[in-house]
Amino acid sequence: MSDIRPIKDDRRPKVYIETYGCQMNVNDSEVILSILQDSGYALTEDIEEASVILANTCSIRDNAEQRIWGRIEQFRLQKNRRENVIIGIVGCMAERLKDKLLDSRTVDIVAGPDSYRSLPELIRNVTPETPQMNVLLSQEETYADITPVRMDKNGVSAYITIMRGCNNVCSYCVVPYTRGTERSRDPETIVREAAELFDNGYREVSLLGQNVDSYLWKDPVTADRNVNFAQLLEMVARISPELRVRFSTSHPKDISDEVIYTMAMYDNICRHIHLPVQSGSNAMLEKMRRKYTAEWYLGRVRKIRSVMPDCGLTTDIIAGFCGETEQDHRDTLALMEEAAFDAAFMFQYSERPGTLAARKYPDDVPPEVKTARLNEIIALQNRLSRESNEKDLGKTFKVLIEGVSKRNSDELFGRTSSNKVCVFPAAGHNIGDYVTVEAVSCTSATLIAKLIQ
Ligand code: SAH
Ligand code: SF4
Ligand code: F3S
Repeated sequence: MSDIRPIKDDRRPKVYIETYGCQMNVNDSEVILSILQDSGYALTEDIEEASVILANTCSIRDNAEQRIWGRIEQFRLQKNRRENVIIGIVGCMAERLKDKLLDSRTVDIVAGPDSYRSLPELIRNVTPETPQMNVLLSQEETYADITPVRMDKNGVSAYITIMRGCNNVCSYCVVPYTRGTERSRDPETIVREAAELFDNGYREVSLLGQNVDSYLWKDPVTADRNVNFAQLLEMVARISPELRVRFSTSHPKDISDEVIYTMAMYDNICRHIHLPVQSGSNAMLEKMRRKYTAEWYLGRVRKIRSVMPDCGLTTDIIAGFCGETEQDHRDTLALMEEAAFDAAFMFQYSERPGTLAARKYPDDVPPEVKTARLNEIIALQNRLSRESNEKDLGKTFKVLIEGVSKRNSDELFGRTSSNKVCVFPAAGHNIGDYVTVEAVSCTSATLIAKLIQ
């Protein structure tokens, strides 16, 4: 069995890994570390002692890429001081920009999300004159047999990638180009990984995919034994009632009643759905190729709330997509009010080269209008989040303790099943314990609670 924690060994050459982007990238970095540990490397948190420096990158918006270009400039300084250090850019930006990254002459390795198994070889073959690149996308790669080496500090909560790639072509989105076509991972390997995490003290797993509702495993031998997402959720939930199960991301067009009812059947499947709406305007949704309407979306919200009234609901919103009018923007605000989201990730539209939107629609909402609309969306969400938290005052929650509060070392924090962050007095409890708390006050971001047991 492979190690699930970083190996400590001073004799090994060191790799330093920086991670940008989504939860999937966090988990991919753990896969990368597993592969590199097997080939003799050890992780370091000190960039100065690393012989290999990797940045696992994100392309989702232009500012994510600009940050990496800035970072590459800083890596150049490392290189000026230490001739033999190897700089690798991996992940979505590697896949999107390919050899353009090598033109900087700072980068030695470019490796896309499906080529991590080749990293040891790429590192072996690098010389100052021969940078190495592997950006092949795969129809099959799921890294199913690789045990990620967990880099988190607490040992409580872990990510498990259940599928890779994406078959939706939302017109604004770069992910299908950087991560390729959708493929689902063998459910047995998922359940085994979750059980092993539980045996190692972890108490929460988050199942990850760009569109988890389209997870479908077809048994390669007996094609009649398919496993869909609802069935997978149930298989993981049955490992132990003490293991919390979360998942992300659901797509509004695909989230099924079967998933909603499966959640309701198991207390340890957390009452939280991240359901990105993107816009409340049907004209925008159509242009975004989201394949649902605002009415359909609100119908799904009603279904979720009727089956699980206590279910947390969060979303993603894009402000200022191509051709967005003031009325389209008002439709988004109205939908937010009606859905009463508990929290949201909110962005200005950023045109991504090569996407359908970049080819078909001018990015014509002026930057200052995008900013003003985004600010309005953020202000509204702050109010909705505060109202949602205020409704929880006086209620009791089971919280899984994840860490010590940053503000006060006598306090701990954790999350409710509905994914709200709770802060409460430590009173001798430990990270990884479950406690029951009562919410006594709140901000828009946090519930402040007292211990009940
Ligand atoms: N697979 C997930 C989303 C992954 S990307 C889903 O379909 O819901 C995370 C979020 O980034 C998206 O939900 C969207 O809100 C935002 N995003 C994606 N592309 C963007 C772009 N070009 N500009 C601004 N925001 C974008
Ligand atoms: Fe991008 Fe759409 Fe796929 Fe999400 S579902 S990753 S937004 S293409
Ligand atoms: Fe994730 Fe960014 Fe890639 S959001 S899938 S790391 S483009």
